[in-house]
Amino acid sequence: MKICRSIQSLHTELPAQAGKTTGFVPTMGFLHQGHLSLVRRCREENDLTVVSIFVNPAQFGPAEDLQQYPRDPEKDIALLEKENTDILFMPENDEMYQQPFRTYINVEGLDKMLCGQTRPGHFRGVATVVLKLFNLVCPARAYFGQKDAQQAIVIRQMIRDLHLPVQIRILAIVRDSDGLALSSRNVYLSPAERQAALSLPKSLQKAAVLVSSGVEESQVIRESMQKELDRDPLLATEYISIVNLQDLQEIPVIEAGNTLIAAAVRAGRTRLIDNLLLGDLSC
Ligand code: PAF
Repeated sequence: MKICRSIQSLHTELPAQAGKTTGFVPTMGFLHQGHLSLVRRCREENDLTVVSIFVNPAQFGPAEDLQQYPRDPEKDIALLEKENTDILFMPENDEMYQQPFRTYINVEGLDKMLCGQTRPGHFRGVATVVLKLFNLVCPARAYFGQKDAQQAIVIRQMIRDLHLPVQIRILAIVRDSDGLALSSRNVYLSPAERQAALSLPKSLQKAAVLVSSGVEESQVIRESMQKELDRDPLLATEYISIVNLQDLQEIPVIEAGNTLIAAAVRAGRTRLIDNLLLGDLSC
């Protein structure tokens, strides 16, 4: 695996691979099996697999966990070597955001819904860095996890609006054996918080059972989920949203193939998200 720690080094490495189909997995590191599932699929579908590790300051709010965000580059490198990654791009912050930096991507409307309500500026930061990384890596396909479904919808919209020559693949959520969706931030959870956090996937399992038994009213599904999330006083619900996949507007009735049931909770200082996707976000 070639490790490129600068844009210059990536620019030297990529032309040597000309003619190959490039697949790209952007990450912020502290890799888990969810990330590795993206890398494996990327390898299956492309000649060249490029992974980036960059903790993007532009997507963290001033009161968020940028400084504490977990990092373990040595372990990440070993995991990616094992997956036969071809190129690992690990740029420095100063190079990614040369000062003065003035250009941002706003995917209007979508960035204000769901997580955007409590994380103003987050999706602007995500869209900006993803476009920058696409420009640097020039992938034919890019791989993202369904856990960040709103992120996938924002990126899909940006690709359409800006005519970007990249396809995105959105892969299923990878879970621990107890059902908790894997997330780099799970490391923040105390044992009691981790136990409480299980109500989040359980609430979505309840939603899935209701949907498969023919319930279509969003209100009924939301109430059942809220009941599950209210079980543990360590959990505080941020939102439960049942929205369509185009503009993330709340829908009163489930639309087959076009619905996202998403929730965000806080367990202590840790914010967790999870969802049930009734549809396909790849494009
Ligand atoms: O999903 C993530 O890890 C990040 O939001 C991404 C897409 C790598 C952009 O920083």
